[in-house]
Amino acid sequence: MFKNLRTSTKLTLLCAMFIISIAATTYSLVAEKQIAIAFARKELIGSKFLETLRSIYDAALIGRPFNPLAPEPDASAHKMVEALTTAQSDAAFALHTREVVLDLSSALSRLGSNHPVGDSTNAIELLAKMQQLASRIGDESNLTLDTDLDTYYLQNILVEQLPKLLGRLGELHMVTSGAAGVATPPNETNAHVLVLEGLIESGTSEIKNKLTAAYRGNADGGLKRAVDSTYASLFSSTDAFVARTKAGSVNGGATTETNSAALEREYEAVVGLANRAWTVSQSQLDRLLQLRIDMFLTKMSLSLAMTGVLVGLSIVIAVMTYRHIVRPLEGLENVVSMVRETKNYDVRIHDNTTNEIGRLASGFDEMLAELASARDRERLEQAERARVARLVTAGELSAAIAHEVKQPLAAMVSQGNAALRWLGRSTPDLDEARAALQKIVNSGHRASRIIENLRAMFKKDANPHKRVSVNGIIRSVLGLTHHEIQKNGVMLQTALSDEPAPYVLGDRVQLEQVFLNLIMNAIEAMNATSSRKMLGVKTEIGKSGEVLITFADSGSGIDADKMEKIFNTFFTTKQGGMGMGLSICRSIVEAHGGRIRASSEAPNGSAFYVELPSAA
Ligand SMILES: Nc1ncnc2c1ncn2[C@@H]1O[C@H](COP(=O)(O)OP(=O)(O)OP(=O)(O)O)[C@@H](O)[C@H]1O
Ligand SMILES: [Mg+2]
Repeated sequence: MFKNLRTSTKLTLLCAMFIISIAATTYSLVAEKQIAIAFARKELIGSKFLETLRSIYDAALIGRPFNPLAPEPDASAHKMVEALTTAQSDAAFALHTREVVLDLSSALSRLGSNHPVGDSTNAIELLAKMQQLASRIGDESNLTLDTDLDTYYLQNILVEQLPKLLGRLGELHMVTSGAAGVATPPNETNAHVLVLEGLIESGTSEIKNKLTAAYRGNADGGLKRAVDSTYASLFSSTDAFVARTKAGSVNGGATTETNSAALEREYEAVVGLANRAWTVSQSQLDRLLQLRIDMFLTKMSLSLAMTGVLVGLSIVIAVMTYRHIVRPLEGLENVVSMVRETKNYDVRIHDNTTNEIGRLASGFDEMLAELASARDRERLEQAERARVARLVTAGELSAAIAHEVKQPLAAMVSQGNAALRWLGRSTPDLDEARAALQKIVNSGHRASRIIENLRAMFKKDANPHKRVSVNGIIRSVLGLTHHEIQKNGVMLQTALSDEPAPYVLGDRVQLEQVFLNLIMNAIEAMNATSSRKMLGVKTEIGKSGEVLITFADSGSGIDADKMEKIFNTFFTTKQGGMGMGLSICRSIVEAHGGRIRASSEAPNGSAFYVELPSAA
């Protein structure tokens, strides 16, 4: 089905398929990029939420019960809840953190003025809730699924490591500064402190590992430059704080005024540095995520621009294909159909391009020019053939006339001589002379009629046929040839059927010529032999009612190889022959609806058979 479609339809289909495939590819490309961009944007939302959490950590850890020397709790818990609520409502459309936020809010509220100061259970629970929120934010905002090495490890520090470290620092300070408010046996406190110190140390080394991995994944080294010094300060400050708490433990938990103040400063410094590290890391994470989004947007714009260029180019190519292929082909087709319908070979396509279509068009133009000149040649040849045919006809007519009037002319000469002889006598026999002159006049009329008949026959408008007696014509011809028969010593045998007498519809003069030619040929053939000269003439009615006339002679006969040619115009075997006699006979017989044939039993003579439709 496709192969029969018009070229323009095929081109349209091709363009449509091409544009659809480009559109599909572009769509999937854009969709893929948008998914990646949406992914990174969600991470940014999580990062923003983490910033709020950081401020809550900051505010919570420097207040009571984590910092017993801090002033009495005021409205800070309330402010934290407010900040949390705002952050939650900002991120609610993207992150499912509501329940955890509510839990954390109530834990924060319990730290407020309505609750006993230094409630360590509430404090531990608060730390757990904050850590839980950090980890939930990480999960919900795709941060934990981040795909790049630098941002992956950086988010891990923010979502997991720093909250843990801050929590442990706060808990350690809460325990070591004796602000727990609950009497705990010293040994138990020491064990708790030891565990916390260990956890803090392992926490910092974990952060160091993650940082190293993040630096490795950050090709331009910008991350390291931005955060490394802050983390170095954090690590040394953490070490100093842990060393200070260890020193306190070595003293058996006895806290002096000076020690407490130093611990307090160390604690505030370490919490401040952790917050600082958090802030710096977070701004780096935001920067890297934003870079990634920008990169995706740039790539997407580039892809779209390239697609646009491709589509534009395709349209240009399609238009050019239409103009330079489809339209010329349609033009070619129009000219071809016009030539087919009108047979006008003078039209031309006139495509001057040098491509295949141009060459095809100029080839077609050349073919048309060839056809036009061939047709002109054919016309000329036709005219020439007609002229030649006319000349041939004229030649044949002249030959036929020359042939047929020979006999009447010869008769006229001999009759003229006879008349002269009758008049040349001592006593001129006027009657005989008159009779001879009359015969000359008759022969002249006959010659004239013969010429008229032949002309009519060559012009194909034969005289109207009349019912004529075949025997009568034979007798008249035998009369005309009587002298020749006698002169050549031919023995004549006639068998003319009288009952029924044969009649045909025809032209008397023409039929006379046929029989005359056949008798003359027979006499001439017999003259060429030394045997007895016998000429038999017979008329009869055939089985189907046709009239049969036979001329049999004892002449030379006809060789088999000549038999086929004897009726051809100008075929003769005689010295002075024209080869017209039998050709005229056949034309006349066929014009009468009959046929003529010959048979030969060389060297015993030959026979000619004329068959004509009967008009009895
Ligand atoms: N009765 C016959 N016996 C033998 N051959 C014959 C006879 N009649 C015709 N032919 C052969 O047929 C040839 C053609 O005959 P046709 O009458 O057409 O021409 P032609 O007699 O040769 O010349 P012309 O034009 O003067 O009559 C003759 O030359 C002769 O060879
Ligand atoms: Mg002849």
